[in-house]
Amino acid sequence: MIHVTNLTKRYAGRTAVDSISFDVGRGEIVGFLGPNGAGKSTTLRMLTCYLSATEGKAKVAGHDIFRDSINVRRRVGYMPENVPLYSDMRVQEYLRFRARLKGMKYRESRSATNEAMDICGLADVQRKMIATLSKGYKQRVGLADALVNKPELLILDEPTNGLDPNQIRQVRELIRHLGERHTILISTHILHEVEMTCGRVIIIDHGKIRASDTPQALVRRLRAAGKVSLQVKGNPQLVLEEIEQMAGVKTVRHVDTRQEWALIEIRTVANTEICEALYELAVKKNWVLRELVQHRASLEDAFVDLTLAGKTTPNGKGENE
Ligand SMILES: Nc1ncnc2c1ncn2[C@@H]1O[C@H](COP(=O)(O)OP(=O)(O)OP(=O)(O)O)[C@@H](O)[C@H]1O
Ligand SMILES: [Mg+2]
Repeated sequence: MIHVTNLTKRYAGRTAVDSISFDVGRGEIVGFLGPNGAGKSTTLRMLTCYLSATEGKAKVAGHDIFRDSINVRRRVGYMPENVPLYSDMRVQEYLRFRARLKGMKYRESRSATNEAMDICGLADVQRKMIATLSKGYKQRVGLADALVNKPELLILDEPTNGLDPNQIRQVRELIRHLGERHTILISTHILHEVEMTCGRVIIIDHGKIRASDTPQALVRRLRAAGKVSLQVKGNPQLVLEEIEQMAGVKTVRHVDTRQEWALIEIRTVANTEICEALYELAVKKNWVLRELVQHRASLEDAFVDLTLAGKTTPNGKGENE
């Protein structure tokens, strides 16, 4: 559905998007993730033909963004970062107007508007002036606008930006629901949102792609360098020596020497589970055990790990692999 090769955008003296390549298949919901200024909006604006690319190639919904921008715009529902709405129009009137602008016939535009309002929960406010709507409802109007002409592909730039937690949850549900019928590329900062809705995540930083994988795989990759901590009463030196012998242990260190409880931190090799063996060892050696924790990596850890400068190489092959 989206096929991008070496796409680049240079603003005066500054490369915002640096030769990125990726694909989005039909029916996928893909999260486009990155810190502020990473190049997310710039990429999405190029893909929707609202900004011209400097170099590279991209096909969106079967059409070339350079040669066939009219068809790209027709086939793609785009919700920009700051949704430009006509605030002195009423919701229904605005959506009908937008549907007509997108080439729909009069009759068709009416039924499509009703459908879009239905999907986005706008029926109750359809006669309200857009200016009087809350931010959450304005976002919904933006979303309804993006999908009113029933595009196969939705490109949404931070659709939950500025919403409260309840509204975020509603919009997230809505996106998941839309994902049943559309291919979706969605940019966001909210990691939880990505974990809940997206089948795949593309992480971009400083205009380059750092990783492209399922949220689970990104976390798993990080968990490869898993961490376990335990607190035992006993001679720390002896405890360390015993743990060092265990299978799956990469490094072990004694973190805290001030108290009678020794806090031990263990790094394990890829995808190993050592908690049970540690417990058995403690029982065997008569160590009094106060705490045994497997530290779970989250998508947030993966994000931080991948976007902290210099920590990774391109293609997401981080040092944890
Ligand atoms: N019109 C412009 N002229 C010059 N530089 C720009 C322009 N638009 C964006 N940039 C720069 O390009 C880089 C990428 O910006 P972009 O808006 O794509 O980031 P983003 O990932 O969407 O960030 P955010 O999370 O803040 O929305 C930034 O350094 C930004 O300052
Ligand atoms: Mg942006």
